[in-house]
This record gives sequence, structure tokens and C-alpha cells, in this order.
Amino acid sequence: MPHLLTISHYDLEFLQHLLDLSSYLQNRRDVKPLDGSTILFCFEKPSLRTKLATEVAINQLGGSVIHITPEEFLGGKVLHAPQDAKGIPEEREALKDTVKNVAQWCDGIFTRVYNHQTLQKLASYSDIPVINGLCNLHHPMQALADLYTIHESFRSDKQVTITFIGDANNVAYSLIEIGLIFGHKMQFSGPKAYYWNQSQLAHFSALAHKYGGTFTHTPEPDLVVSNSDVIYTDAFISMGEEDQYQQKIAHFEGFQINEALFEKAPEHARFMHCLPAHRGIEVTDAIMDHPNSLVYQQAKNRMVTAKGVFAVLCNEEFQLETKSPLVSLS
Ligand code: CP
Ligand code: NVA
Repeated sequence: MPHLLTISHYDLEFLQHLLDLSSYLQNRRDVKPLDGSTILFCFEKPSLRTKLATEVAINQLGGSVIHITPEEFLGGKVLHAPQDAKGIPEEREALKDTVKNVAQWCDGIFTRVYNHQTLQKLASYSDIPVINGLCNLHHPMQALADLYTIHESFRSDKQVTITFIGDANNVAYSLIEIGLIFGHKMQFSGPKAYYWNQSQLAHFSALAHKYGGTFTHTPEPDLVVSNSDVIYTDAFISMGEEDQYQQKIAHFEGFQINEALFEKAPEHARFMHCLPAHRGIEVTDAIMDHPNSLVYQQAKNRMVTAKGVFAVLCNEEFQLETKSPLVSLS
């Protein structure tokens, strides 16, 4: 069963097909790959873009969405059990049974979770595609829209230098993965206290080696701005890390994208942010609202690439092996 938990689960050929399909479906509102399909949405954390852009995409593809709470879907607790009750199971039912039930009625599961392991468990039980709407380690739906946006701004055969400045987080990880798979030059700059671990660095090196891109990193943002085509940042404190705010934020001094830093980049350099942005913290108003800022174009493309994801994963006719809609309907 094809799932989308991480970007690097797929190769260049598949990801290119997905982006081509996204572009095709953007202009073909008459094509309905999800006609009659229902996708279950379950979000453990708040969302604007991921939830809305994806639901609109599914509607435009002819499908529909049902929302379920994490309490109902991800192991609901037994309510009304007496405090001193012994032997009453804590969970309403096993996750495996919940997922196997959902597959009787639905055609896909789209979920935002705190812990990547929750996605792995869901996928291991699921007979329908499980699609990651963000977890602690990855944000593949964002990375697809971001690469699509970059390829709209730069020639798609050009090797682009993409610099992420900030936290070594889920958004940065998926962006670096997809950038390397498409052979781009990926640069990272963040404080040493919140950095990639050895196995993550080895993974980036392996992708660079396999696909012909490069990965470089430094704790000095000034060193990587001057050759950048794209400068990207995200929140310094991600959802679920709020209790670390005070201890974490001090380490990010000097990593804000502001006019002084952005002036050191080439004139053509674009600014990107997955949003939500914290104006005045990781980025200033001047850069968010800069003529070279792509932030709202990225948001628009969340819907475009969500179409490619759901078409390719939930309709066999749109899979890479067949490619039939691209050939026969274009
Ligand atoms: N970029 C992104 O995923 O935004 P939301 O948290 O609003 O979904
Ligand atoms: N890194 C952020 C991204 C939000 C879209 C978070 O996980 O909260």
C-alpha cells in the first residue's frame, strides 16, 4: 500500500511524476480522480494551510472529507470508568481495529500527529494510504509545495542554492530531502545546540551523493546567504515545544531573517517560509512583505501539490507505472 510518511521514501522519478500530475490537475478542474472517494482527516495539532488547502484540493478532485477527533481515532480513552476500577482496558479499542474499520468506508487517512511512530503504526495496520500532514520529524506535504514553488521561480533544469536558516526541524528536514533528491545545493545554518544528529547528517550526505546535489552546514548564517537563490526559515519553536520556549529562544539570536541579513543575498534571492510566521521573531515584517517573498505563493501551492499527492496515492490510474491520465488526457 503506498503511504506518504516521508519524502525520501520515494525517488526522483516518482516525485517528478507527482509534481507533473499536480501541474496537470491544476489546470484540469474537469478531471476527478477522487470521484466518490472519502478521505478521513485527523489532526492532533492546529492547522490552517494543511487542513484547508488539502480539503479544498480533495473537493476539487471530486472526493469528500470526514473529520474525526484524535480522541476518537487514535485510541480513545474509556470514559466513566470508576477511579478504582481494576481490569478495565484503558483504550476504547485497539488502534489496529480502528484502522481496519476505517478502511471499510474510507479511501485514505490524512493525519497530523505529535509522534512519527503514530504514523508508522497507522501505516502498518492500514489497507488504505496514510498521508502525513506533519509530525515531529517530517512535513512532506509542505516540501512538495515548496519545491513546486521554487521550480515556478527558477528554471526547473537549473541547480538552485536553497538555504534554510533556523531550527533543524520537520520542515527543514523534508525540504533538505526533496532539494537533494532534485539535485539542488542545500545549505543549512542554525545554532549548534539545536542541530542535526549524526544519522540525519549521514542521510543528507547519502542523498547528495545519490542524486548529485550538495549539502553544507554552518552555524554562521552570514557565510551562506551571499550565494543563495532561496532563503528559507520556519518557527524557532515548533508546535509541541512551547514548554522549551525560554531555554530555546536565546540560542536563535542572530538567526532572524531581517533586512541586514537579506541585503547580503543576491538581488534575485527569494524568501520562503512555510507559515505560520512569527513576525518579529524568526523574520521581520520587511522580509515577509518583501517583493521577493514567496510565502503566499507557497500557500497557494499547498493546494496544487495536495492534488498530485491524493491522485497518485488514492487512484491507481494515476500511478507512476500507468501515467495514463497525463498521456491520454493532456
Ligand atoms: N505550513 C503549514 O503546515 O501550515 P499549517 O500549520 O497552518 O497547516
Ligand atoms: N515546524 C513547525 C511547522 C508548522 C507548519 C511546527 O512543527 O510547528
